[in-house]
Amino acid sequence: MKAVVVDSYTDIDRVVLKDVPIGDLAPGSVRVRVRAVGIGFVDGLKVQGLYQTKDPLPFIPGTEFAGEIDAVGDDVTGHAIGTPVMGMARSGALAEYIVVPAGAVQPLPAGVSAEVGASFRANYLTAHYALTERAKLRAGEQMLVLGAAGGVGTAAIQLGRILGARVIAAASTAEKRRFAMDLGADAAIDYTRPDWRDELKTLTGGHGCDVIVDPVGGPVSLDAFRSIAWNGRHLVVGFAAGSIPALPFNLPLLKGGVLMGVDLAQVPRREPDAYQRVTTDLFRLLSEGRLEPAVGRVFAFAEFREAFKMLAGREALGKVVVRVSA
Ligand SMILES: NC(=O)c1ccc[n+]([C@@H]2O[C@H](COP(=O)([O-])OP(=O)(O)OC[C@H]3O[C@@H](n4cnc5c(N)ncnc54)[C@H](OP(=O)(O)O)[C@@H]3O)[C@@H](O)[C@H]2O)c1
Repeated sequence: MKAVVVDSYTDIDRVVLKDVPIGDLAPGSVRVRVRAVGIGFVDGLKVQGLYQTKDPLPFIPGTEFAGEIDAVGDDVTGHAIGTPVMGMARSGALAEYIVVPAGAVQPLPAGVSAEVGASFRANYLTAHYALTERAKLRAGEQMLVLGAAGGVGTAAIQLGRILGARVIAAASTAEKRRFAMDLGADAAIDYTRPDWRDELKTLTGGHGCDVIVDPVGGPVSLDAFRSIAWNGRHLVVGFAAGSIPALPFNLPLLKGGVLMGVDLAQVPRREPDAYQRVTTDLFRLLSEGRLEPAVGRVFAFAEFREAFKMLAGREALGKVVVRVSA
């Protein structure tokens, strides 16, 4: 099969498509014919060996995928060959086939495309868990989303609206702010302007932000925390800007706000009930058509490098997808 293979941690330009053997169908596993793969900011970090955990070399990148069941292990029940599914793995998705534990895939709800299925898990689970289980977002609260046109940002906008919040989208370009508004944000703000906190204050009617979704990091995180409402919750999701801000401890004291970490990777193990609640609710929203994940550019398999470059270049709108096969 054809697969994207990372032989050494390196720049994406040096990574190539190769012919590799299809993985063995281990007990308890299923093989999926991959149709589409969602690419996130993290995938680019993993290729370069810059992520907090390193995949042993060589490895096939790509975590979120959709396709259909191609083969099932002898001991696996409940997975029929040909069933459209979506799933998530630690790596291995940017390939024509992936072998995963049977529990790592779920049927794709009727009418949901492979591109949407591959865009769904990481960002929407993260945003839903962050908003409901961590921040306990309440209807009517004011929510600020940093990096609002990105993968996590778009998920947070859509889920924030569904949960009844007033959503303010912060993004760096007019095109991104328009994209965020089209997804349902109530207001948009240019957080690259030095005086953006003044505008934010006006937009919240002087109240400040009850919940801040922060996948960006860097100096804007500190600006945002300074604009938090009393009893506000600042959700630390990621550091796409490339630097980890250091929060002076007097700020939580003065502002009465709380800094909350969000790490989806640990949730299934540490909070299995919460993970189940969030997953069940997301699949319900998707199946009922109440949630339509924001798919951005879709690249052909041979153009996989462009998908990574789009994320690294701060150009992505919604989730970037690689179409592996027709
Ligand atoms: N904690 C978790 O469980 C979890 C789960 C998923 C993702 N994450 C993390 O969340 C972060 C965002 O992931 P994503 O997939 O949403 O990424 P994304 O689609 O690329 O969005 C990130 C946004 O960050 C902003 N940004 C600011 N400076 C940037 C820079 N130098 N380069 C790139 N973007 C920059 C961009 O918005 P503007 O141009 O508008 O500033 C961009 O839209 C990553 O750090 C990722 O590791 C964490």
